[in-house]
Amino acid sequence: MGETDVIDLLLAQHAMIRDLFDEVEQAPADKRGEAFTRLVRLLAVHETAEEEIVHPYARRKIDGGDAVVEDRLAEENEAKELLMRMDEAGPEAPDFTQNLAMLRAAVEAHARSEERYEFTQLRGHTSEAERRSMATGVKAAEAMAPTHPHPGTESATKNVLVGTPVAMMDRVRDVIRQAMGKNP
Ligand SMILES: [Fe+2]
Ligand SMILES: [Fe+2]
Repeated sequence: MGETDVIDLLLAQHAMIRDLFDEVEQAPADKRGEAFTRLVRLLAVHETAEEEIVHPYARRKIDGGDAVVEDRLAEENEAKELLMRMDEAGPEAPDFTQNLAMLRAAVEAHARSEERYEFTQLRGHTSEAERRSMATGVKAAEAMAPTHPHPGTESATKNVLVGTPVAMMDRVRDVIRQAMGKNP
């Protein structure tokens, strides 16, 4: 795991996010909340890592970087607002399934745009060493969002994310900045 490319890592997270959407959709009513929490955690980790590490790089390195990143941030914020509303209303809310479908469509369209307009260019404009160094922060964040914890062992992971999506994102941001050697 020491030699990971940040783009590979983010693409793998896009796939994990799709899988977790499947799980939440297919979960029986009594398991839906738990699966949704895992999805919220992974989204908090993934989007915060992109915002802290990858988008700033893309702004500087790729052609028209500012515009590409502004478009991605607008998509991320839209999805985040819906995610916060869903988290507040809870998995029992009557419009949960409908909102989940909307969230999924937004998150997946956003991921496709990143892959098409940002990641491909970023790979071409960065060195392997730069991509490995960016991966350090993403991996530190990913450890806080176990996607398939064994029942009962989750509390053993000290850093596992709890609370509202906003609280999770704040925590992820701190961990990333520490891992990247920046002052919080
Ligand atoms: Fe994103
Ligand atoms: Fe992404």
